[in-house]
Amino acid sequence: MKAVIREKYGNQQVLKIGELPIPIPSDNQVLVKVHASTVNAYDDHLLKGEPFPVRAMNGLIAPKNHRLGCDMAGVVEAIGDKVTKFKKGDEVFTCLADGNGDDAYSEYVCVSEDLLVIKPRGVLFEEAATIPMAGLTALQSVRDFGKIKAGKKVLVNGASGGVGSFAVQIAKLYGGIVSAVCSTGKKEFAYSLGADHVIDYTKEKFINDTVKYDLIIDIAANHTFSEYKSILNEQGICVIVGFSSISHILKIGWSILQTRNKEKKIVISTAKNSRIEDLSFLAAQVNEKRIKTIIDQTFPLNEIQQAFQYFETQHLKGKVVITMNEGNDTDE
Ligand SMILES: NC(=O)c1ccc[n+]([C@@H]2O[C@H](COP(=O)([O-])OP(=O)(O)OC[C@H]3O[C@@H](n4cnc5c(N)ncnc54)[C@H](OP(=O)(O)O)[C@@H]3O)[C@@H](O)[C@H]2O)c1
Repeated sequence: MKAVIREKYGNQQVLKIGELPIPIPSDNQVLVKVHASTVNAYDDHLLKGEPFPVRAMNGLIAPKNHRLGCDMAGVVEAIGDKVTKFKKGDEVFTCLADGNGDDAYSEYVCVSEDLLVIKPRGVLFEEAATIPMAGLTALQSVRDFGKIKAGKKVLVNGASGGVGSFAVQIAKLYGGIVSAVCSTGKKEFAYSLGADHVIDYTKEKFINDTVKYDLIIDIAANHTFSEYKSILNEQGICVIVGFSSISHILKIGWSILQTRNKEKKIVISTAKNSRIEDLSFLAAQVNEKRIKTIIDQTFPLNEIQQAFQYFETQHLKGKVVITMNEGNDTDE
């Protein structure tokens, strides 16, 4: 089978397409023929070995895992002897991050049956692949860390990318009044996601404004907590999703210590990418057209370098999708 392989950390040029044997599922695993994956900041961090803490967990000098890719949607091809929940032909998707393989950029993967979720028939493979990392991060940031309630005023900073486009829609789903921060060219797009107000960061300032929010979802990572504090209501929560540098991480850590037991809180979103009930929930919302998946561009597996190069422009509208098998990336 074709698979993306890299032997060292680096930019997209270290990514090569290699030939590997099709893996054999163990007793509790399912062999999935992969149809689609995506590029996430998470994959980009693993590719480069940056920021430095990534290397502490994944290999100091060179990556221990030579494979990449966390979001995955495909079809069950074979099952292990003890698998009870899936059968050949089932359409499934999941997130393979955090030690669950990180090997979705390939034609086949073996996945524990406990990690898989059935993909609704009405959701295309490419759409399903956009959901795991970005959708789960957005859902858990807004609902769990942000404790959203109907009528609360929500600011999403970085609203038009992979996580942000889900965050705006999820905040609306839970009844929030949403202000979306994006660049000029994305204003109409942000409104189309359901935003009540759109702030063009190239022309308007929202820090030190008189408008205050109950919940701030910070994906762009370009303001300090003191700045956000100035636009948070009492009892407001600022959820940090995006990170820009080690010094940004340290400042956030310091702010968390300082805001313990205070009325305005800062929390870091540590989304759980293997929470399958949340994946099922999101897939159902997409299937019932309450949330739309947004695909900026699709690349075939053999253009993986171009896909990462495109991702790194950092001005995406939704997700960058990778398709594995030419000609079979739609529902059969
Ligand atoms: N905590 C977690 O569990 C978790 C999980 C996933 C991702 N993340 C983090 O979340 C961040 C974003 O991920 P993503 O996948 O959504 O990235 P993405 O798809 O590349 O989107 C980034 C967005 O940032 C916007 N942006 C750039 N400059 C901006 C500015 N000055 N003000 C406001 N928005 C700006 C861009 O919009 P414009 O084109 O309009 O500028 C773009 O849409 C990354 O730092 C990633 O590491 C965290």
